[in-house]
Amino acid sequence: MCGIVGFAGKERAVPYLLNCLTRLEYRGYDSAGIALSGQRGIEVTKRKGKLSVLTSELMSKKQSQSQCGIGHTRWATHGAPEEKNAHPHLSSNGYFAVVHNGIIENYEALKRELISQGCKFSSDTDTEVIAHLLEKSYCGDFLSAAKYTLSRLEGSYAVAVLCKDYPGKIFCSRWGSPIVIAKTDKGNFISSDVTSLMEYTDEVVKLGGGESALVDSEGIEFFDKDMKSIERSPEKIQWSVEDVGKKGYEHFMLKEIFEQKDTVSGLVGEYVRGGETSFPDIKFSDKELFEFERLIFIGCGSAYHAGLAAKYFTRGITGIPCEAETASEWRYGSVPVNEKCLCVFISQSGETADTLAALRKARDGGARTLGVVNVVSSSVADESESVLYTRAGPEIAVATTKAYTAQLVTLYLFALRLAKLRGRISSAQQERLIGELLRAPDKIGGLLKTLPEKMKALSREYYTSEQMYFIGRNTDCAAAMEGALKLKEISYIPCQAYAAGELKHGTISLIEKGTPVVALMGNSALFAKTLSNVKEVKSRGARVIALCSEENYGKSTDFCDSLIPLPEGGEFMSCLFEGIALQLFAYYTARHLGCDIDKPRNLAKSVTVE
Ligand code: AGP
Ligand code: GLU
Repeated sequence: MCGIVGFAGKERAVPYLLNCLTRLEYRGYDSAGIALSGQRGIEVTKRKGKLSVLTSELMSKKQSQSQCGIGHTRWATHGAPEEKNAHPHLSSNGYFAVVHNGIIENYEALKRELISQGCKFSSDTDTEVIAHLLEKSYCGDFLSAAKYTLSRLEGSYAVAVLCKDYPGKIFCSRWGSPIVIAKTDKGNFISSDVTSLMEYTDEVVKLGGGESALVDSEGIEFFDKDMKSIERSPEKIQWSVEDVGKKGYEHFMLKEIFEQKDTVSGLVGEYVRGGETSFPDIKFSDKELFEFERLIFIGCGSAYHAGLAAKYFTRGITGIPCEAETASEWRYGSVPVNEKCLCVFISQSGETADTLAALRKARDGGARTLGVVNVVSSSVADESESVLYTRAGPEIAVATTKAYTAQLVTLYLFALRLAKLRGRISSAQQERLIGELLRAPDKIGGLLKTLPEKMKALSREYYTSEQMYFIGRNTDCAAAMEGALKLKEISYIPCQAYAAGELKHGTISLIEKGTPVVALMGNSALFAKTLSNVKEVKSRGARVIALCSEENYGKSTDFCDSLIPLPEGGEFMSCLFEGIALQLFAYYTARHLGCDIDKPRNLAKSVTVE
């Protein structure tokens, strides 16, 4: 996804635009650019690469005094990450500048139509069609041209536009991709997300689907999808400025790893009352929760891995048939659902395009829908029938850590609620399981004290590996998939995760002397089984890193080259602890390699495009 920003005020726009773009850069960093509005027209500066390249260019030339502008940091979907494809995009006559987050699905047809009308394109992006449509439909009225242009677009967009004839004004509109708008004493802002505006305001207006706004230094006018004026009132931002700072850590990822003790503690405090799980805001009655006959956990990436773990532990304690699906696959399948099926959509950002599309498919198919989301009022939260917020606070690093852990805990608490309602666990069992959860923050705190040095040393041994395998069973397999993703997405070491029992059905042919294999054996119930797989790879020369509970430590030493002892945890806790251990392993490995840990290549924090 990209980040878009706009400023209209009584001071120079460039510093505000660059500061907001810095906070948005985690959304994508292939290129960056700004367009400034002035009496002499629109001035565009854009550069390939990270924001720092654009900043250097802007600082090297005469400082513009413009007090209104738009900016963009890009994650390319259409058109290579080259300067010509960087936003803002200009219309041929230079009258319009556009920045865009999303995908214009019908851009090829529109591009053919515009070229047949004599338009000259200067980029390979889908976005550029917006600038030319504005030019072609402009007869002196900015809003009319905007209304016509938006009516021609199919797909998703958050757009901000400058028009040469309307200096000092920014038009913005959204369909699918988010825009927040804030009126502040510095001036008026638009942005893709609140984290970039928190130092200026504690309240924003979240633009609704199909809504638009015209922003200048004096105020903000809102419009509905028919471009009729509407009133919108701001809502308080859930987070604080210090939440989005690094607080002295070298990377956001390390800060967010170390926040996990508080994250879990906060969640348990939020959803446990008097020893019982409690979801006061959930929109499903106990009767409805009791009557669900099937659960499908749906998400992408790490959110999918959380859903995969939830499939195992929810099935285990509730007895309800459970499935876990990647949103990008499930949305295109023909999956029969009905009102007795609860589809649980897991998403940190709440803006992931595939997850959103799967949610709409489930809803249209008659399923009930529950969001497990971190960003308040995000699209998945808004479009789900009910939402359980994961309360992890803003997560800036592209590689998720605390939000993933928060997803696991929230899903587990929900599973406990379902189990209790169905009489699958007694009050005594619930008390024991919740007691374990109440003790989890201290155990996590202990891990965050003891593991960093171990993981630093271990990563020094393995950071030159050409590949790594992660194996586990059930929730340990879900943790293995997450551990593999963490390592590969920030260190770029090819990693594969497998159900431990699957290895011997082919993949074990790849194991040779020195091949690193990470064996996740935290769940004691499956320890012996996975240990047998460890012996299989060991006998073929593998170097084995084993994560296991302290009680099984002694049984592992003869077969493992490195041992990471974890607190005893059972099916759920084991994957929680394993996740944190492997986050640290990935972090220190990437650090040894000198990788850009918070902004790994080719990635973005949330993929709001397909
Ligand atoms: C995980 O580290 C990645 N950032 C990625 O897999 C992420 O989990 C996935 O894109 C889903 O994002 P979401 O939770 O915001 O929907
Ligand atoms: N589709 C636009 C481009 O490729 C925007 C991409 C995005 O929102 O990530 O430039």
